[in-house]
Amino acid sequence: MSRALDGARTGFEAAALALRTLVAEGRFAAGEAWWAAEDGPRWRTIGAGADGDRPTATIAEAVMASGRPCRRGGWCLIPVAGEGVLGLGGGPQVSDSFLLGVAEVVAATAQGGRLRRSLEEKEAQRSRLLQALLTAQEEERGRIARDLHDQIGQSLTALLLGLDRQLERLDPADADLHGDWRRLRRLTAVTLADVRRIALDLRPSVLDELGLAAALRRFTRELHERYGITFTVLVEVPERLSQQVETVLYRVAQEALTNVVRHARAGEASVVVTVAGGSVQLVVEDDGVGFDPAALAPAERIGLIGMRERLELLGGGLRLESAPGDGCSVHGRLPLP
Ligand SMILES: Nc1ncnc2c1ncn2[C@@H]1O[C@H](COP(=O)(O)OP(=O)(O)OP(=O)(O)O)[C@@H](O)[C@H]1O
Ligand SMILES: [Mg+2]
Repeated sequence: MSRALDGARTGFEAAALALRTLVAEGRFAAGEAWWAAEDGPRWRTIGAGADGDRPTATIAEAVMASGRPCRRGGWCLIPVAGEGVLGLGGGPQVSDSFLLGVAEVVAATAQGGRLRRSLEEKEAQRSRLLQALLTAQEEERGRIARDLHDQIGQSLTALLLGLDRQLERLDPADADLHGDWRRLRRLTAVTLADVRRIALDLRPSVLDELGLAAALRRFTRELHERYGITFTVLVEVPERLSQQVETVLYRVAQEALTNVVRHARAGEASVVVTVAGGSVQLVVEDDGVGFDPAALAPAERIGLIGMRERLELLGGGLRLESAPGDGCSVHGRLPLP
């Protein structure tokens, strides 16, 4: 019986399935469910026969209030945990424990359905919240990156040019003064490079202006210059993808590539983006030391969880292939709208 009720989402659905099963098995000629829905009581009649004796709503309400099964005019009426009443007509004499057993199964299914619905609602709420947070974070990062690049970057560039002009005017014989100005110039150049790198890490303007391929090439070039790893980037997409899809793919690739430089001790790595069968695939692969994904505790894989969350929010998914000594490949998939 409990298998027959699988998939019921409400107590009323569970009751209707229970009655249908008992009538279909030929145990009873007819079944009826009286249920207190939010918008008023509902009836569901299953099977035929014993019409003249059908219990009324008033009787069902009395049975529910009493909390005990009762027999009336050829019908057995069973209350179900404050939710409603099941009526079974035209059947054999059955014991109270049989009737209570049926009520219990219906009540347990109803409870399971309620928990499932509440979990689904919570999950949907969590997804909406996460999506809103990620969107706000992207906008904020974009704004800070633009401010850094356009304002602080411009000022530092002007300062650098000014210092160059001053350096040209200095007396070459005054070595001390020359040294001081050179140090100032070097510090300014390093600060400008830092500002550009931070802006790039936050949100590269090239992603919005030129798209995913250019942004990935830019990011891997930067990593190559800093860490010496050789990267291959192959992006085969027919046209610009939506900003949302490009952002998610870029962030997932960014996390996977950061993992390569932080953990893999790789010599080479590749990023491949292709479109096939209505979805876009991203594969980031390295020839490094690899690891056992199953051996990581949840707290040790926040970066990996973040990649998966971003992809799943847009209906996609993430697959990770790695083993100690065997490199690592991260496969991301997103459906295209
Ligand atoms: N390409 C890789 N090669 C080898 N090990 C990796 C690779 N990618 C991930 N790992 C292993 O998986 C672990 C979890 O990665 P994850 O990105 O979730 O966290 P993290 O990089 O340690 O920290 P963060 O939260 O800052 O990303 C890493 O600590 C590392 O041990
Ligand atoms: Mg990481």
